[in-house]
Amino acid sequence: MASARRSSVLKWCTVGIFAPILFVTYKVTMIPMVVTEAEPEIQCLPTDFRDTQFIVGVHRNASVLIPEDLLLKNLSREDLSALYHRYLENVQYMCRRKVRLGNYEDGGWDICDDEHFRPPKPCIIYSFGMHMDDHQRSDKNYFHSLGISDKDEAIKANTDEWQLFTYNTIRQKLQHANKTISILKIDVELYEWRVLADIVKTANMTGTNNLAVEFHLALDGTEVEWEQYYRALTVLRNLYHLGYRIFWTHQNPNCAFVSACKMEQRSNCHEISFVKVTDPF
Ligand SMILES: *[C@@H]1O[C@H](CO)[C@@H](O)[C@H](O)[C@H]1NC(C)=O
Ligand SMILES: *[C@@H]1O[C@H](CO)[C@@H](O)[C@H](O)[C@H]1NC(C)=O
Ligand SMILES: *[C@@H]1O[C@H](CO)[C@@H](O)[C@H](O)[C@H]1NC(C)=O
Ligand SMILES: *[C@@H]1O[C@H](CO)[C@@H](O)[C@H](O)[C@H]1NC(C)=O
Repeated sequence: MASARRSSVLKWCTVGIFAPILFVTYKVTMIPMVVTEAEPEIQCLPTDFRDTQFIVGVHRNASVLIPEDLLLKNLSREDLSALYHRYLENVQYMCRRKVRLGNYEDGGWDICDDEHFRPPKPCIIYSFGMHMDDHQRSDKNYFHSLGISDKDEAIKANTDEWQLFTYNTIRQKLQHANKTISILKIDVELYEWRVLADIVKTANMTGTNNLAVEFHLALDGTEVEWEQYYRALTVLRNLYHLGYRIFWTHQNPNCAFVSACKMEQRSNCHEISFVKVTDPF
């Protein structure tokens, strides 16, 4: 069933597959669940141990919302971390028919095939994060050696120079500026935050009813700072305001770490699939 639906979606959609930003292999670290000592270099300020009333509420509530800036800015790193992980680990929308696209095990990603979110015929799919030279794989399947960023720029990655473009520039280049991108998938190794911040601010997301993103905080098992949690939560809140609701979530155990303050296992990498609801509030 699933594979029949999967191929039918792919049959009527034009698929653009784009380059990743960097090649990174995850450092696989197995972290035991029981830890007796916090890593010495991570300092927990006394305020980081304090659970604000807000976070106590987040722990209890089934669905977690990200508060507005005034309150968010006031939270400690530990509170932001707890909020970030709770937010990404909770489903906000019940999708009845999930379809896995791409490789079934690793690198696969889920879309919601409920009628309301199903792409119209014809449709366009963009998938960022696969390395190939430009070529056409099949009738409607194209690889583009283009990388995405929040500005048009050239960067050095390993020894190569990479040309990166914004989402809007890529859509213009491919003559899709005024077309609907029905499904957008982004797995670009930490660039997702700046890319999504740019997309939320500048791109027309009308009709982009499925969005799948692999979110990363650090590519190894380190716990990030307040600023990174804050920026991440801001991006997630903006996506929420646009109507994006999590219907599928998966923690990647290869990026697990134990939070220094709470001794709780968390992951720096989440695969998340969103649908876009039409009445976001
Ligand atoms: C938790 O849920 C209760 C009742 O639904 C609500 O009043 C409260 O604001 C929520 N807390 C947070 C942090 O979302
Ligand atoms: C921020 O935190 C301080 C100290 O905990 C508190 O007095 C203040 O009311 C908080 N502000 C907001 C907007 O929650
Ligand atoms: C796309 O829409 C913009 C205005 O929204 C218009 O200026 C432009 O000519 C359109 N491009 C095409 C190829 O239709
Ligand atoms: C956004 O795109 C949709 C089609 O996907 C189009 O109908 C709408 O006019 C566009 N809005 C703007 C502001 O360009």
